[in-house]
Amino acid sequence: MKTKVAIDRPIITLKLATSLDARIATVTGQSQWITGPEARAEVHRMRASHDAVLTGIGTVLADDPELTARLEPPAARQPWRVVLDSAARLPLDSKLVQTTQKAGLIWCTQSSLAVQSPAKKRGVHHHQVRGQVDGASGLDLAAVLQLLREHYQIKTLMVESGPILATAFLRTGLVDHIAWFRAPLLLGGDGRPVFESLNIEVLSQALVLTQTQQQQFGRDVLDCFDLSPS
Ligand SMILES: NC(=O)c1ccc[n+]([C@@H]2O[C@H](COP(=O)([O-])OP(=O)(O)OC[C@H]3O[C@@H](n4cnc5c(N)ncnc54)[C@H](OP(=O)(O)O)[C@@H]3O)[C@@H](O)[C@H]2O)c1
Repeated sequence: MKTKVAIDRPIITLKLATSLDARIATVTGQSQWITGPEARAEVHRMRASHDAVLTGIGTVLADDPELTARLEPPAARQPWRVVLDSAARLPLDSKLVQTTQKAGLIWCTQSSLAVQSPAKKRGVHHHQVRGQVDGASGLDLAAVLQLLREHYQIKTLMVESGPILATAFLRTGLVDHIAWFRAPLLLGGDGRPVFESLNIEVLSQALVLTQTQQQQFGRDVLDCFDLSPS
């Protein structure tokens, strides 16, 4: 595991939606929808209760999500949407870019962008963020969180990413809570696991969770956990 980063940052909830055997997609990559409509409606309520929702470019390219809180009656306010995208691959015709009138979009890349860039003209808030300090690919998560806290006053953040970014947040000790929806489905060992390697060699290195809540949504179960400080 990497060392914990001590910064003034938002409180982070990692939201996961998996089969009972912790898969987010089948062997062919099909992932929509593992959980049912009741669980997905709860995710919209959770988005509305956070200051921001963050994802990785992998999820944007795979699913083209909007990441707004779509509720009836409509949410009092929309969360900021945040995309981490080192190589600036965010498509201009993605739902995220097309809905900036509905909810703000913060786009973090490693490169700078011209003032008159098409994304900025569409109202996207672009920020150049340094890469990971250890030279690994991706953006420095501590720098992203500091930006969100100081520049946008974001105090609560829900991470709705795929396995690569979810694992990066866990490895850096940056997750406070996990909200884990599990559907009563088994996808087997060739389905895509919810996490990548956490480099845990002995049980004493395992991340320890404390369960705080369990609730049924249709056929799915939501388990909420706190992560114990290590
Ligand atoms: N079931 C669920 O809860 C759930 C939720 C969301 C998505 N998904 C599924 O997840 C799949 C996509 O997952 P994914 O793992 O490929 O993509 P992802 O985790 O959403 O995004 C990964 C990308 O984020 C960027 N990134 C920027 N900074 C990073 C950092 N510090 N550490 C790691 N990554 C960083 C990297 O691209 P750059 O290097 O280019 O920046 C990386 O490839 C889709 O199939 C989607 O359906 C499932």
